[in-house]
Amino acid sequence: MNINQPGSSGSVLNEGEAPAAALDDAVVRARVDALLAQMTVEEKAGQITQYFDFLTSQDEAKRVEAEVAAGRAGSLLFVTDPEDINRLQRIAVEQTRLGIPLLFGFDIIHGFHTVMPVPIAMAASWDPELVEQGQAVAAAEARAIGLHWAFAPMVDIARDPRWGRLIESAGEDPYLGAAMAAAQVRGFQGGYIGSPDRVIAGPKHFAGYGAALGGRDYDEVNLSDSELWNVYLPPFKAAIDAGAGNVMTAYMGLNGIPATGNRWLLTTVLRDMLGFDGFVVTDAGAAADLTTHGVAADLTEAGVRALQAGVDMEMAPPFGQSAYRRLPEALADGRITMAELDASVRRVLAAKIRMGLFEQPYVDIARARAVLSDPKHRTVARRAAERSAVLLRNDDNLLPLDAKALRSVAVIGPFADATRDSSGPWIFAQDDQETVTVLAGIKAALGDQVQVAYSPGVSVPARQFRSIFESPEHKQAPRIEVDDEAEIARAAELARGAEVAILVLGEAQIMIGENASRSSLDLPGRQQQLLDAVLATGTPTVVLLMSARPLDLKGSAPQAQMTIWYPGTQGGTAIANLLFGHVSPGGKLPFNWPRNIGQLPLPYARLKSHQPHKAEQRYWNEPNSPLYPFGFGLSYSSFAFDGLSFDRAEIAPGEALQVSVEVCNTGKCTADEVVQLYIHQRYGSAARPVRELKGFQRVTLEPGERRTVQFTLGPQQLRYWNAAARDWVQDESPFDVFVGSDSTAPLTASFAVRRAAPEV
Ligand code: NOJ
Repeated sequence: MNINQPGSSGSVLNEGEAPAAALDDAVVRARVDALLAQMTVEEKAGQITQYFDFLTSQDEAKRVEAEVAAGRAGSLLFVTDPEDINRLQRIAVEQTRLGIPLLFGFDIIHGFHTVMPVPIAMAASWDPELVEQGQAVAAAEARAIGLHWAFAPMVDIARDPRWGRLIESAGEDPYLGAAMAAAQVRGFQGGYIGSPDRVIAGPKHFAGYGAALGGRDYDEVNLSDSELWNVYLPPFKAAIDAGAGNVMTAYMGLNGIPATGNRWLLTTVLRDMLGFDGFVVTDAGAAADLTTHGVAADLTEAGVRALQAGVDMEMAPPFGQSAYRRLPEALADGRITMAELDASVRRVLAAKIRMGLFEQPYVDIARARAVLSDPKHRTVARRAAERSAVLLRNDDNLLPLDAKALRSVAVIGPFADATRDSSGPWIFAQDDQETVTVLAGIKAALGDQVQVAYSPGVSVPARQFRSIFESPEHKQAPRIEVDDEAEIARAAELARGAEVAILVLGEAQIMIGENASRSSLDLPGRQQQLLDAVLATGTPTVVLLMSARPLDLKGSAPQAQMTIWYPGTQGGTAIANLLFGHVSPGGKLPFNWPRNIGQLPLPYARLKSHQPHKAEQRYWNEPNSPLYPFGFGLSYSSFAFDGLSFDRAEIAPGEALQVSVEVCNTGKCTADEVVQLYIHQRYGSAARPVRELKGFQRVTLEPGERRTVQFTLGPQQLRYWNAAARDWVQDESPFDVFVGSDSTAPLTASFAVRRAAPEV
């Protein structure tokens, strides 16, 4: 669909309204029962099968369409044109025996048509309201074109930047991760499942996927009980508590048991302990994959194992064999029961009923065009890019640049004018024409009076092994290819002739994301050489890093350095606003930024262990502290913290106390600070991390303005999962509290948790 074409080319069928409130459970149950009573076993198995429908692959598309027409497909993914959605939906609704509508799912990760900054960037905003707004925009656009379900948020904790899917996560911290997970679920779903202009949220990948050995995507994960419960599960718990309607399984084995066939994980933990009551989908082909893992003898056994573990819907492998297609055979052989099959069918039907699909299965195409071109969506995307950038260095206050005094600037680098890369991975329905690159943003901000020279500097190298997204099913973007030697020399000349050089370096979007792990944190290709050549000119230099990984600049020291992530459709405008001081940066790192790859993994929330006073000297050759700590990010202003106090010096387990702190903008411009609160439990029945984030608030302060910020510390923040007790415990102990602008904040005070003395 071309949204710029006026008029409606598809039919508009508004047969009903989206439910105005959450449907009553009893009503949903009765409607599910009525449908279930009429379904054949084949229809039931089909209802819980989801197919990839790559319409570019005609034979496969025909095969999938035949399954839909036979009533043997409950859901499709990867259909993103509303006219195709209407056509396929019409087959399901009007040509099948029971007329059950299809549920259309898709990877709506950080926007649909309007592209928000990537999820790790959104986390770097430390602004849950903004994150909620961003996913509400994505939901509105997706729902308008006929999608019902986002395979997001990805709430996997990522502590190893070699793992490319770090970009989809909120980083290394469970508290920040939980806040971002809940905000995204609220953004996608609204107040209830079936809210107008919203979609079902599907937190993924349950569970532990981010801890892949060596950061190698899909490799095995071995997690201790303590890490699983204290670090990897809290974001899932937050997403479930926020009402997420779906959960996706993970590809890999957790402690040796493939996650998708793991009944303990998918039923005991997910349903019984975390209280999830929506439907569970496999990751793509992960049920069939139980044969590959070597835990199921054949496809039928794979289907049985997944269903009995607690998987409701199979996302069937693209171009492959579905395991759930074998369920009728398994039922006939007595390997599964009708009750087991029905339980999963029920959950999927309930989701369709709650979403109002029976009343309104089709898309209003004229309306879809209007929603996709809504200027308010662009405003959210621009604000998000402004609020997520993290300023890491700013020697002699090079930034902000004074646009009025500037005469010439050189904009250099392979990502300075890269429309597709600016949007990052997991984007398939964007309009590159609409994307504002950094170069375009700078030019628009400076106008004709300032000379803006541009050079890509170097080529973008190709991957040694192709990405799964470099296939005929996905639209390809052109890659910059130049004569590196000559272009580096030209770029240095441009820098020499300019008052300021702005270098946009990083990784192409195809180098990060799924199936994009990397054994290096260096700038790919010859970008380091480009950087050093520009720095050698002596021209003041700003490096903008377009990456999700903490990259290693090998000690090169540009005067200013800002991580802009993959800033999305409005990135260029936002970056210009930051560079020229219309907005002050306020983003903070959602991970520890290592000095080099040898330190990985390097979480800030480590245990004290033996000889903590020498913690900096664990390696004999260099300090093992990070280059930039978790929570770090500079501003054009400065902030001071004082007055850290509690409403009580002591509380009993189960009670809460209030923490207050004063923050003051001591600089010269209006700016944001993220007030961060960390705790440390001094002793107890398990060793606890030196610092753990337990509260944060992003505030905007005028110069000289002072604000009191309050936090609550109660059992939710003070308890932890104890691997010996195999339960949540809250110890009696003194607690140190640290408040400030990053995880090394010096301001500290302490309180104690004590049981009341028994009465005598
Ligand atoms: C595999 C990925 O792991 C998952 O996150 C994604 O949602 C599915 N493919 C569908 O694209």
